[in-house]
Amino acid sequence: MRDLYHGEKPPVRAPPCGKITATDITLPEERALTTTVEPTGWTDPDPTPAALLLLGRATDPDSERGVDCPGALPAASDPSLAERARVARAALGDRAFLLGHHYQRDEVIEFADVTGDSFKLAQQAAARPEAEFIVFCGVHFMAESADILTGAHQRVILPDLAAGCSMADMATFDQVSEAWDVLADAGVADVTVPVSYMNSSADIKGFTGRHGGTICTSSNAERALDWAFGRGEKVLFLPDQHLGRNTAVRDLGLSLDDCVLFDPHKPGGGLTGQQLRDAKMILWRGHCSVHGRFTLDSVNDVRERVPGVNVLVHPECRHEVVAAADQVGSTEYIIKAIEAAPTGSAWAIGTELNLVKRLALAHPDKRIMFLDKAVCFCSTMNRIDLPHLVWSLESLVAGEVVNQITVEPETARYARAALDQMLALP
Ligand code: 13P
Ligand code: SF4
Repeated sequence: MRDLYHGEKPPVRAPPCGKITATDITLPEERALTTTVEPTGWTDPDPTPAALLLLGRATDPDSERGVDCPGALPAASDPSLAERARVARAALGDRAFLLGHHYQRDEVIEFADVTGDSFKLAQQAAARPEAEFIVFCGVHFMAESADILTGAHQRVILPDLAAGCSMADMATFDQVSEAWDVLADAGVADVTVPVSYMNSSADIKGFTGRHGGTICTSSNAERALDWAFGRGEKVLFLPDQHLGRNTAVRDLGLSLDDCVLFDPHKPGGGLTGQQLRDAKMILWRGHCSVHGRFTLDSVNDVRERVPGVNVLVHPECRHEVVAAADQVGSTEYIIKAIEAAPTGSAWAIGTELNLVKRLALAHPDKRIMFLDKAVCFCSTMNRIDLPHLVWSLESLVAGEVVNQITVEPETARYARAALDQMLALP
């Protein structure tokens, strides 16, 4: 079946935040505390133009149409959905392998054969050549990567094609190609190595491979940058400015002044040739709509309310949040840190809410809380729900391959080079 997402206007999706009440995760008693962290030297001057319209701010008729499911989607109210999913899963047996990202809903993660962060899921997809169907419970860029890393006999299925990523949408192939021309005009393209976050389209991964770069994830960004600086003088980091800045400053010891922000919505990226020549890290102006919500105020606030709390955040958070945190790491790192934490310890976690809620339930002996009061799910991760999972599994059982994600071969070839480079990082 045609991949409805690839090469067309991205399917539109709901705004990034689903609402639940702050009482879903109980906060411990409030007490006064002394530590208040001051801002670092970095501030984001204006919000990055979002790929999404925020709730209540204008309308986009295209987006509100969403992406129709090309089949008979079971009703969300059907009480037999979980049983239907079990029956279909059992009928597929070893023919199918279900991957679940840590941000997926409980009702979906229950059916995952393996759960993981984006790095682990990419490895797992590549390690299952015997599975005919890879059902990816995650978002579109992850399913594309799985298609690139799996064999021609395997089909990758994304249960809902509207499960995209607003950050990945912030860097298009045309924008990045124009940016490369700007770098060439400044005389720095030859000494710049592109490093692209996994959270990018296959087109951007292909661009990265064509220009001798690598992909990275939040669990290997430091090693990817080390590798890149061993090959060039500068890095063009796409599309998450925060992961790029945090890794460069926190892990590699570069200064904030070594980093410049390339704004694809401004001529020349909003930078002079001299600024590009002086910079070591050229950061693309993209961000995660979920992690970008955490602020320094959230950190200071929880430290005031919860004495001794450990602040643990994802590196997609803003630099000032990461600088004020006690620990920083990918979703897989966050899970391991909580598993290793002593009984009675308190943790304020800055990442997607499905994961934080599961951690709170799994560790009743520890005090786990969401870092911010304004709780936030990733709405595109949440697009994968039980009705879509049941529909895709039952369709496979009936011999109909639905929502297959395919990457055009030429793009896939170069993207694969960049992904293989990542998998080979020391
Ligand atoms: P990781 O899974 O690499 O931690 O990334 C988080 C994320 O935002 C995925 O979309
Ligand atoms: Fe994209 Fe952020 Fe959602 Fe991950 S959490 S899929 S980066 S919007």
